[in-house]
Amino acid sequence: MTDFDVRPVADDERRETLAVLLQSLHGKPLTDEEWAEIDSAWKTEGSFAAFDGDTPIGLAHSFGTELVVPGGGTIEVAAVDGIGVRADWTRRGVHTAMQHAQLAYFAERGKILSCLHASETTIYGRFGYGVGTRIRTLRIERPAARLREGVPVAEGHVRFLSPEEAVKQGPELYRRVGLHRPGMLARPGNWWPTMFNRDAGPQGRYRLAVHNGHDGPDGYVLYETVERATLEDPEKGALLRVRDFHAATPEVENALWRFLLSVDLVSAIHVRTRPVDDALPLLLNDSRHAGTLAVEDDLWVRLIDVEAALAARTYGAAAPVVIEVTDDQLPGNTGRYEVGPGGVRRSDETAGLRLGVDVLGMLYLGEWRPADLARSGRIEVLDADSLARADVLFPTAVHPWCGTPF
Ligand SMILES: CC(C)(COP(=O)(O)OP(=O)(O)OC[C@H]1O[C@@H](n2cnc3c(N)ncnc32)[C@H](O)[C@@H]1OP(=O)(O)O)[C@@H](O)C(=O)NCCC(=O)NCCS
Repeated sequence: MTDFDVRPVADDERRETLAVLLQSLHGKPLTDEEWAEIDSAWKTEGSFAAFDGDTPIGLAHSFGTELVVPGGGTIEVAAVDGIGVRADWTRRGVHTAMQHAQLAYFAERGKILSCLHASETTIYGRFGYGVGTRIRTLRIERPAARLREGVPVAEGHVRFLSPEEAVKQGPELYRRVGLHRPGMLARPGNWWPTMFNRDAGPQGRYRLAVHNGHDGPDGYVLYETVERATLEDPEKGALLRVRDFHAATPEVENALWRFLLSVDLVSAIHVRTRPVDDALPLLLNDSRHAGTLAVEDDLWVRLIDVEAALAARTYGAAAPVVIEVTDDQLPGNTGRYEVGPGGVRRSDETAGLRLGVDVLGMLYLGEWRPADLARSGRIEVLDADSLARADVLFPTAVHPWCGTPF
């Protein structure tokens, strides 16, 4: 018996339920003007709220999009972009109830996978989510950092767009860059007003620098500069902070790094959202000028339909393995699967590896080696040879990377 109800968000409840979410994240409610900007983008599909009577006390919001899986295919996924419970209602099962409703809804609607970025790492494992991609935060000592001679740089030029142009052209720029790594997400129309336009548009603090190659725009970087000089330390240069950085090829990426390193009066560059295998330190004449401040969890992945998800990706060249998966919330997923380059099928054979659906979410995009997950006790190894084969089957040649905040 609970003293609250969970149900889908109705159209006329969008603003008040969003206010609960913002409050839980220590933000302010939106002004009429701010709401008008995102009104049409803030949809209700796949979103559930908790109510005390008529008063909203929690929200689990999501939107539909596409995700790149290993092998280059894309699958339709649910991106959960807002979870929050009012502080006077936490630790009473409100989030748990919203999660169960949302996961059941995704399963009924035939979603293959859901994903999210977590504010804290302790929240989502119990609901079957695992860390599917990670990000690397780089800090570059700007005045000293130089590209090495011989670094391949795309021909072209870098130009700013005006804030009005940035808002208009952002979606097309991202489309032209292309979804080229496992873990990348399509950015649907509703993503731009909430996640890009506020920063890049006329009210934002960021600038959009676009690289134009032979065939037009092929990469961009969205950044702000923060002046740090003081009376006591007048020589202290500005901090350049990158928010969104995408390039169609490594050569275009190098050209954008060269541009960032050339901005005058900047003493440090801070980039939070780079792939784990970002090449920047290798590009510099002294790799220590690009320090790694952190490697953190990024996209959390929850397989909703395990068989369909496993079948949607490709695998390395090894004989198949049989894995035994446990899923308490969506018990239809529990069972054994034979996984290999020839395909995926339910199996009655003896399993070589046993794991929870959250750990399968960690393996899915190729971020982790099964041997590391076994060493940490997350995978139970029933047959050592299966583990060796899984180490060839699951990891990807490049680290998966999301690159899209939501
Ligand atoms: C995270 C949050 C949604 C959890 O909501 P909640 O209603 O308190 O969660 P529940 O009561 O269903 O708790 C489920 C379990 O998770 C645990 N848990 C929940 N949030 C936790 C946290 N932040 N840290 C540690 N444990 C947490 C609870 O202790 C409980 O464990 P138990 O079943 O073993 O007792 C809520 O605390 C919140 O809104 N936080 C601020 C906003 C936020 O961080 N949102 C997530 C954005 S990605």
